[in-house]
Amino acid sequence: MSNLPASTAPVSGIPTTHPLVKGEVGPGCAKVDPIVIADSVTRQFGGLKAVDVDHLEIPRGKITALIGPNGAGKTTMFNLLTGFDKPNTGTWEFDGKSLAGVPAFKVARSGMVRTFQLTKSLGRLSVLQNMLLGATGQKGEKLFASLIRPIWKKQEEENTARADDLLARFKLDAKREDYAASLSGGQRKLLEMARALMSKPQLIMLDEPMAGVNPALTQSLLGHIKNLKEDGTSVLFVEHDMHMVMHISDWVVVMAEGRVVAEGPPETVMKDPAVIDAYLGAHHDTDLGDLMEDGPNPVLEAERKAHEAHPEAETTGYGEKDKA
Ligand SMILES: Nc1ncnc2c1ncn2[C@@H]1O[C@H](COP(=O)(O)OP(=O)(O)OP(=O)(O)O)[C@@H](O)[C@H]1O
Ligand SMILES: [Mg+2]
Repeated sequence: MSNLPASTAPVSGIPTTHPLVKGEVGPGCAKVDPIVIADSVTRQFGGLKAVDVDHLEIPRGKITALIGPNGAGKTTMFNLLTGFDKPNTGTWEFDGKSLAGVPAFKVARSGMVRTFQLTKSLGRLSVLQNMLLGATGQKGEKLFASLIRPIWKKQEEENTARADDLLARFKLDAKREDYAASLSGGQRKLLEMARALMSKPQLIMLDEPMAGVNPALTQSLLGHIKNLKEDGTSVLFVEHDMHMVMHISDWVVVMAEGRVVAEGPPETVMKDPAVIDAYLGAHHDTDLGDLMEDGPNPVLEAERKAHEAHPEAETTGYGEKDKA
């Protein structure tokens, strides 16, 4: 009997090598071509270590799912990697460049954008205006250039054309002039994803893209995410819907209690005893099929209350500097 922890012991029938992986498959394994590499990233809230990730690599050009029970630290990890929160310890790099300590709006400009578990579209702007906020490197933002119309005119036209193209792809073109506030929850999710794509990111990180999306739209959303990969974009998404995870991901990373407890290809990772433990540990009486329900989460509750009190204070996801 080996004295390895359960998560690294080979499970019969589960391959220990994989074309995306350098060496053996297991929590924290090195990838052949990683786009994100994180080391010793921790985030403590009072006595709770919400994130405690020794090592994590996200493969480039693939769709990676980040799963785990409620409160596992998935959103907190997103917040840390994208500069929306600061870790207690840790370093990480994106496309070979260190991003530790880099503020959110600069992270977005460097090619890594994310969407939020609760949508952040600006209700009092039109759908099109929301889209234009997602474009990066706009020449008209510089004071001098802003005074010279030809400099920004052409770029504005290009951005508008790109926005219209994306709105059509996400079937939001009919809503172009409507206030974002008038969209349904699912449409707001689509708008947020479309807006994130305005900056032509190398990596898009989606926090529960399917949550609240009308079932009639889920199939096309899956198609959009697959198309992103076809276009060469790397995707990292958090999702509780296991059908989606199994259907579209190339790789699955499992977090529980802040740690990466398992990772592997979708066909095998759910058989890993560490994954079954993680889910059953959090939900003693549920079976794996019932895990997709969202339990109460104090962070989201606080976010929701703050939003109800001050809807105008929403951010674009691109940081204060880009809001003006
Ligand atoms: N700002 C905060 N203050 C206090 N506790 C926090 C804060 N942010 C997160 N937490 C706690 O950290 C843990 C991880 O939360 P996080 O939202 O990252 O989990 P999650 O995996 O995204 O869960 P879910 O699937 O429910 O979205 C939870 O216990 C949460 O209550
Ligand atoms: Mg979350």
